[in-house]
Formats: sequence, C-alpha cells, structure tokens
Amino acid sequence: MDLAFKSLNVERVFIVKASLAHTGGKINARALASHGRLDVVARAMLAALSLRTSNRSDTVFCAVLEGPPRPPVTVEVRGWELRYSIKSEEDVGDLLSRLFSGHHVEGAYAWEIGFKELVSELVREFGSKKVVYLHEAGEDISNLSLEGKIALLLGDHKGIDRETEAWIKSLGLRWFSLGPQPYFTEHCISFINYLLDERTRLPRHL
Ligand SMILES: C[S@@+](CC[C@H](N)C(=O)[O-])C[C@H]1O[C@@H](n2cnc3c(N)ncnc32)[C@H](O)[C@@H]1O
Repeated sequence: MDLAFKSLNVERVFIVKASLAHTGGKINARALASHGRLDVVARAMLAALSLRTSNRSDTVFCAVLEGPPRPPVTVEVRGWELRYSIKSEEDVGDLLSRLFSGHHVEGAYAWEIGFKELVSELVREFGSKKVVYLHEAGEDISNLSLEGKIALLLGDHKGIDRETEAWIKSLGLRWFSLGPQPYFTEHCISFINYLLDERTRLPRHL
C-alpha cells in the first residue's frame, strides 16, 4: 500500500466514510444508489476533484466503503494522475466498476484498509492540526486555518457513527461546522473547495 499523502502534489484531502457502500460485485453505473448509496460517494468524488474542464491536480479523494461483500475497501483517487476528467456519476460508476473487476485505472486505487487505519496514516503524515472533522456541532468554520495542506473527514448520508466520532475526538482532531443546518456531503466539499480556492485569489478591490 502506497497512499498518496506523502506526495508533494497534495494540498487537499477529502475522506468520506461510506457506511453502506458496496465493496465489489457488478456495478450498474446508471443506478449507483442501489449499490449501498454509491451515488453519495460519486457526487462527493465529483465535488472534490472535478473542475469544468479538468480535475483538481492538488487533491486526493478517498471513500472508505463499508458495505458488502468484503469491507472495508478504501478507494483513493488522485486528481493529478487521472488521465481523463470525471464529469458525471456515470463516469464515477464506470471507474468503480473497473476497479472492482481488478482492472488498472490510472490515478485510482482500491486498498483493503478501513477508516481508522486511513485516518491514522493521514495524522502521521499531516499532523493532528491539519486533519479535521466536519460536523454541524463543531466550531465555526471561520476558525479553520486555511494555510498549507488540509485534510477533511466527512460522513455519508447517515453521518459518522458515535463510536467512530468518539475515536476521532480521542485523537485530538478538531471538529468544524458550516452551521447547524445539515448539508449533503458533496455540498460541504464544494464549499470547502471554494474557501480554499479563495485563499489563492487576489483581493478584489486593490
Ligand atoms: C448529510 S450529512 C449527514 C447527516 C446525518 N443525518 C447525521 O445526522 O449526521 C453528511 C456529512 O456532511 C457533513 N456535514 C453536513 N452538514 C454539515 C454542517 N452544517 N457542518 C459541518 N459538516 C456538515 C458531515 O460530515 C456529515 O456527516
């Protein structure tokens, strides 16, 4: 296993814990919701990586799939390695389909590791200040430092289970909130990408 976190390319990491998402078998790319809500994973991947005409070259997206038949499987997709741009849920379905059937997909990897192992590795690499959990009850997102690398943990449509949340707390990771309203996972990712994009823009009124 050779996760990409050590790569100099990586500025942003999004990790989604997908508690029901299927980990193999034949995937119908046009009906991802029927595979343990792989549609949630697909929309999160698009929000994390996809730009109008390309993929984000500084971003890694990981989905920890925890559904049948052989959980867990972590799908890691590296924006700078993908050879084509992903534009639709169907594109993601095709990518997952090829990975599950053992084909090589440049820029996409399937690892047999779970959420805790993945996050522990990330904390070792980034340090605990640069790995944060997004949750409605966290501190205001305006307190999050946008300097340097950042990794964000998110739940799927069911959120993250209490035991795992307690574990996240025990690591000393900070929780940040976009407000009390629960948003879709992919909308949270789009908003964070917007904030991170803004930091590189020139002030509007010079
Ligand atoms: C649809 S929400 C999950 C809602 C789920 N019903 C629950 O009770 O946790 C999906 C994920 O997006 C993130 N999220 C959603 N709204 C958020 C908010 N207002 N602030 C921070 N993170 C949020 C969280 O990581 C959450 O697990």
